[in-house]
Amino acid sequence: MELKRIVGYEAAKLVKDGDIVGLGTGSTTHYFIKKLGERVKKDEIEVMGIPTSYQSFFLAKESGIPVTTLNEHDIDIAVDGADEVDPDLNLIKGGGAAHTMEKIVDGSAVRFVVIVDSSKIVDQLGSMPVPVEVIPDAMRVVQRNIEIIGGAPALRMAERKDGPVITDNGNFVLDVAFEEIGNPWDLEVELNSIPGVVENGLFTGLADEVLVGKDGKVETLKR
Ligand code: A5P
Repeated sequence: MELKRIVGYEAAKLVKDGDIVGLGTGSTTHYFIKKLGERVKKDEIEVMGIPTSYQSFFLAKESGIPVTTLNEHDIDIAVDGADEVDPDLNLIKGGGAAHTMEKIVDGSAVRFVVIVDSSKIVDQLGSMPVPVEVIPDAMRVVQRNIEIIGGAPALRMAERKDGPVITDNGNFVLDVAFEEIGNPWDLEVELNSIPGVVENGLFTGLADEVLVGKDGKVETLKR
């Protein structure tokens, strides 16, 4: 938690007065949003946030950050967490099932900054399954098509509700294990070309920089 806190706080320093800010989802961005809220109060910077989930929407409201939408404003800087980061700064996201809105928000930002602790840094993506959001009625055909391209899909089940996880968009999530992800870009495109897939958690070529919490300090990786 301490490493997540220091990268979250560091990222809050990158936001400038007047910025429209993409607000990521998860336990690391929690610290970023809280600190940004403090800056709004103490430094009196004027910013507006565009949340990537109900979680970040509620946290922004609670932290005193005014919110807006992508239909009203463009994003100057987005800050978000990740589940895996490879040497080319490609990511796997969606551990919290928010990757669809995250990709829309993060991908539209002028500057997309990722914040992680060093446990998320990997040589190759794929130790964790790739989250794939699907239209519920398409689940079985999507599963079949995913198996054809070599993936092993598992419907993500809810922990404090009977049945599957339902995303903020009202869909299911398949967690898809692959033996190896040789080319993340190709796989990202291939998964999204399956009818019924809304979005997958591979984020290739999107991150501009990654702040990594390691040994009590913050290192910056750039493309
Ligand atoms: C949300 O769906 C995810 O993409 C998160 O951004 C990602 O799982 C990182 O979360 P943590 O900061 O909680 O590890």
